[in-house]
Amino acid sequence: MGKLWGGRFSGQSMDPEVLEFSSSIDIDKVLAEYDCRSSGVHVEMLEKCGYISDVEKQVLSVALKEILDEIAAGCFESGGFEDIHSAIQDRMEKKCPDEAKKLHTARSRNEQVVNDVRLYAKDKADEAVELIRELQKSFLCLADRNRDAIIPGYTHLNRAQPVLFSHLALAYMEMLERDRGRIIDARKRLDLSVMGSGAIAGSALALDRGFVSGKLGFSDISANSIDSVSDRDFMAELMAAFSILVVHLSRISEDLILYSIPEFGFISMDEKFTTGSSLMPQKKNPDVLELIRGRSAGIIGDLNSILVLLKAQPHAYNRDLQEDKRFFFRSVETVFGCLRVFAPLVLSISVDTVASGKALSDEFIYATDIAEHLVAKGAAFSEAHRIVGNMVGYCTKKNINISGLSLTELKAFSELLDESVFSLLSAGSSVSGKKTEGSTNPEMVYRQIELWKKKVK
Ligand code: ARG
Repeated sequence: MGKLWGGRFSGQSMDPEVLEFSSSIDIDKVLAEYDCRSSGVHVEMLEKCGYISDVEKQVLSVALKEILDEIAAGCFESGGFEDIHSAIQDRMEKKCPDEAKKLHTARSRNEQVVNDVRLYAKDKADEAVELIRELQKSFLCLADRNRDAIIPGYTHLNRAQPVLFSHLALAYMEMLERDRGRIIDARKRLDLSVMGSGAIAGSALALDRGFVSGKLGFSDISANSIDSVSDRDFMAELMAAFSILVVHLSRISEDLILYSIPEFGFISMDEKFTTGSSLMPQKKNPDVLELIRGRSAGIIGDLNSILVLLKAQPHAYNRDLQEDKRFFFRSVETVFGCLRVFAPLVLSISVDTVASGKALSDEFIYATDIAEHLVAKGAAFSEAHRIVGNMVGYCTKKNINISGLSLTELKAFSELLDESVFSLLSAGSSVSGKKTEGSTNPEMVYRQIELWKKKVK
């Protein structure tokens, strides 16, 4: 197989085991298209700057186009090469031996690989942002369809206060919106062409870096050739954004798993997102959500791997950097897989308000509402807290609900209490009683739903 670096060697072919050990072709072959596109622009630039003739440019461009067609048709043979750049160079040498010798003019794989991955990363960032939007649309639809459903909100996994289910779904919208923002932000920073940086020091040939950058759709050129071939921040940043995203997906999965099990029973999802047990005939297991929760481990691990890979590497390029793509590409594919399956799963969710209504009939969940009612009547909050705490303790001992208290019993807790307390013991009045912006008050939640509709359009 052709090498891009044979000259100073005695001509012995590479030990097959060493080649296999050092080859990245199985991983970096996904860059094939980007590499050809990039080479096409490099060729145009070489001609523009006078390093190849117009005829040579035509021949090289046609050959690159043919390779792109081979890649698209799935018949480009890349096996046995060190990396995708060598495979494409070798194919070019077969197609047009004389012209191909000039293709690598003023170019190093150290910069080539970074530029290819930057092109890949820009596409994948755009795709990720789109996929997150799709998932948001599913949650928004779920919220809209179940605007009025009320469930117990939990803190410490103990019933806390009633909330609209749609309010919870909109909490997920906020988390995902931050995830989109982080990716969009990372994409802005990575949108630089490094071509012209050479192996480390730049080139003695008068190249037009701006031309290459513009033709490849980058917004600018990188400023420092040493940094250009060393920098992998852009991968780490995207992987950090992915890691936070999958921590979110994992937490949301955990909520949905809990709310779907019979102990809660507030939601159910379509059968096609669950599996049965080979032993226990009654089971309907939320495997897809468990897998999303589980796959997040790999994404977080890959972020850790790239940071450890970079730590303590001397400047500039070292072959260690070849390993970056293993982590980065895997991370991208895993995140996309999770997002793709999550969106239709969420759309399939139905809410069971009978089950949530049962959980809400435990009236202790209105304790905070009663305390705030006392504050509105003039009590100091800590006093109100103590009064209602006493009331809850008393009811627990007597094994009754708050509505089981007589007026005399109420008055014994505080003179400020009367029958008006009983009107507080409903989930509907609890949520509509909320007054703060961003609360679970239905009017505010509906407004948020409408705002989100405009935003995701
Ligand atoms: N395949 C390498 C990588 O992915 C690029 C080649 C640079 N190799 C070299 N020996 N300078 O990082």
